[in-house]
This record gives sequence, C-alpha cells and structure tokens, in this order.
Amino acid sequence: MTQLDPSVYMHMDEEAEDRLYREMREHFWYPVAYSDELTDSPQGFTLFGEQLVVVRLEGKARVFEDLCRHRGAALSLGVIDGDCLRCPYHGWKYDAQGRVVRIPAREELSDLVDADLPAYPTTETGGLVYTCLGEPKFPAPTIPEFDDPSYKFLHLDIYEWDCSLPRRLENYFDFSHFAWVHDGILGDSSQPRVEDYEITKVGSEIRFVAGPFPEFTDNVKNAPETDRSEDEIYGAMKQYQIFMPNAMKLNSAAGDVEDYLLWVCLAPVGPTRTRCFTYQGRNYAMDSDRQFEEFAELVTEQDRPIVESQRPAELPKDLAAEMHIRGADLAALEYRIWLYQISNGRVELAPGGDE
Ligand code: FES
Ligand SMILES: [Fe+2]
Repeated sequence: MTQLDPSVYMHMDEEAEDRLYREMREHFWYPVAYSDELTDSPQGFTLFGEQLVVVRLEGKARVFEDLCRHRGAALSLGVIDGDCLRCPYHGWKYDAQGRVVRIPAREELSDLVDADLPAYPTTETGGLVYTCLGEPKFPAPTIPEFDDPSYKFLHLDIYEWDCSLPRRLENYFDFSHFAWVHDGILGDSSQPRVEDYEITKVGSEIRFVAGPFPEFTDNVKNAPETDRSEDEIYGAMKQYQIFMPNAMKLNSAAGDVEDYLLWVCLAPVGPTRTRCFTYQGRNYAMDSDRQFEEFAELVTEQDRPIVESQRPAELPKDLAAEMHIRGADLAALEYRIWLYQISNGRVELAPGGDE
C-alpha cells in the first residue's frame, strides 16, 4: 500500500489556500459545455467568479469574457450571426477571434475600433468543451471509451451544488458511504466493511481498483437485457481513475464484458459552488436509457443534501481537522495531499496542455 508522507500533514495557512485556488484556477482545464449542446446559441457561465460565454464559431468552441466592449451587455444573450457572435444590445459583431467586425450604427468605424474580447484557450474531447483561465499544464482528461462504438453515452443536465469542487469530487470515490447513503442501490448497510486497496499515481492521475461491491437485482445492472450470475452480481470491482484536480472516471465492472461507466467532470463557480457535468456510458442494455437516467438522478439526489451539509464547505485547511479511517479513506487522503502539495509548490506540473 502507498505510504503517506507525514511531512505533508501540515497546517495549510491562508496564503497556501490562496496559492491552491490560484494554481487550480490557472493550470487546469475545466468543463464549460457538453459538446452536443453547443450548437446554435451562445451559453453563459461562471468559472472561478469570471462571467464567460462559450460559443461555437467556424466549427470550433470559443470562450470569451461575457461582456460587450461597447456598453457591457452580456454576449451570452446574443445570437450567432454567420461566423460571428452578435451582441443583443446594439448589434456589434465579433468574429471567431473576438475581434469587432461590425458596428451597425457607424459602419465606417467597424474596422477602426480596437476592442477585442478577452479570449481563453479551449479544447474539446470526450464529449466536453473545456477552457483554462491561464496556461494549462496537463492535457484535458482522455476517455477512450467515448470513441468506442460499443459504448453508449448519456449525459445528465448540468447542475450546480453548494459545495466546493474538492468536496463534490471526493464524494464520488469516498465509497464507504455507499452502504449508508445508497443502501440497497450501490451498497449494503449489512456489509459496510471496506477492504484495503492500492493506489497508483500516473502523472496527474490517481488510479485504484476497489471492491468487491454488492450490486442488487433491482437496479440497472440487471436491466432486462442483462443475464448476470449471482457471483457476478456480488463480485464487481470498481476501477477508478481520478484526473487531478476535478474529474473522475469509474468503470463499475473492471474487465467485465458488461461495463457501466461514470464520467464526471467539475468546474468551480466559486469557492463553495460547483458546476457538475456527468456522463454515463455502458456497453449493454442499450434500450434502457430511461432506467439509467432514473438511476443516476436517484443516486445524485441522495448525495446532494449530505455533501451540501459538509462543513467547512471547502476542505479543512489541516489534514488533522477531520478523522481518516485506515484503508477506507486512502483515496481521499491521497487526493487531499495532492491538493496540499499543489499549494506548497510540490507538484511537478508536466507540459502537455492542448491548444
Ligand atoms: S452593448 Fe453590445 S453592442 Fe452595445
Ligand atoms: Fe454517493
């Protein structure tokens, strides 16, 4: 088992917390839209307190400040006009690079006004559009199953919770709660024990396989098209891949022919509000979309009041401020240590950001 480095059990002061927030803000990709929903309208959103707009122009996703340079109207209320974004207020048009190309009230000034929109890098992969507010140091997460035709993917609507991003992400791989919050669905309160598991770190990822977890005959793992034996139902291992600091892929039947996959990517609206993008993928029960949607909605709503109740809403500044259970909380500890290492400049940021 990975040994935790006791030297990181340090108090994280206000300055370190500021550095962590700044590093998270400037060096990582955050999801801003589902690719299939970014079509013929601009979409406004808030990321780390910045009001931004994402729009598809000339076939490529673009992210700009959501503020017209003329009188400050929100460009997310505007429309796509050809290959341009048109402001809703006085019709100024901005091209795909954010340059002003038309001022209807004075056409002759259109080429003379130097009023480009601040633009941010974008990339698009695995069904998501991403942006970074600074300089990305790691590539956006790669999900090979997304391009595998044997998998079918559905996404939930984007939703926001009143919690910090780390609290939301940690909830996904804190699996000792399954027996209690999701008793009879993802876990069994008569079998709450969590066995040891091993962590592997690869670049900016934390990986581990945990289980076995019970799975129940009345949930979607046993949708009408499936035919699983009792051993299979009670023997599933979950394979986790955490992409630091804000995404996770979970294959719920590692190595099995019937795989249910959860693909989650988060973006901070602010320190204590988080925007959540969720895909479910599966390579079986292809006609059971509604069952899978209901399943995901049920599990999400079971988690919500618990996670929103956690205090402090952000992770504690000191690892010793909460109790950690040997084995069961290992992944969460590694995640927190990684965050704290960022705040102390101890994480090697590797080149590899997409354009
Ligand atoms: S505020 Fe945008 S065109 Fe006037
Ligand atoms: Fe949960």
